[in-house]
Amino acid sequence: MSFAAHIITAYPHMFPGPLGESLSGRALDDGLWHLTTHDLRQFGDGKHKNIDDTPAGGGPGMVLRADVAAAALDSVTAQKTADKLPVILPSPRGVPFSQALASQWAQQDGLIFLCNRFEGVDERFIEARQPLEVSLGDYVLAGGEIAAMVMLEAVLRLVPGIMGKLESGADESFSPQNDGLLEYPHYTRPQEWEGRAIPDVVTSGDHEKLAAWRRAQSQSLTQKRRADLWAAYQGDTTLRKK
Ligand code: ADE
Repeated sequence: MSFAAHIITAYPHMFPGPLGESLSGRALDDGLWHLTTHDLRQFGDGKHKNIDDTPAGGGPGMVLRADVAAAALDSVTAQKTADKLPVILPSPRGVPFSQALASQWAQQDGLIFLCNRFEGVDERFIEARQPLEVSLGDYVLAGGEIAAMVMLEAVLRLVPGIMGKLESGADESFSPQNDGLLEYPHYTRPQEWEGRAIPDVVTSGDHEKLAAWRRAQSQSLTQKRRADLWAAYQGDTTLRKK
């Protein structure tokens, strides 16, 4: 069974967007994953198919209606192939997205994203259907669509059979194989460019020395750029005596 992505959105034409290109695009064409968009507007209320309304108690923006969000989600989960899929609500107030979440989701048969373009979703919908609110970071996007694409791309490259060369995922930043360190620098031909040569150790053929050099580079980059990852790594290494 191939991975099934369901996107509930008022802007279905935004998809597949960038996911229709490159690796994920080829995999989509080859049927290695499926994308179904569900137009929120179809579940809107009345003649004008309203999906949002002003916030109760006042405040800026508009709020996605609970009845509309539920009708849309329920129509997706009513399908036998989708009734057990994780339901994700991209939101700046969600838990942080991470490589760990991406690899957890890649083990599933698919995912359902509910994309919102408003100030928020009526809290009663969240209480009743319990989607997982997930944030890309501490900034505010205009809607959940691009956030869903980002999360989906991170997941798709971990779904078995979709990424061309599985090993190329092994060493990179944030993978457990790299102990939570940032990735080391990469080089390719030409050997010299604008007076800069590829470091000797990289082309020396001494695998042990190269591994040690890459490790040191990863450590130094992480220490300089990511105090949070560096602290976690140091905690880990004392435990593992590495
Ligand atoms: N929607 C709006 N801002 C977002 C963010 N930072 N992460 C995920 N979804 C969002």
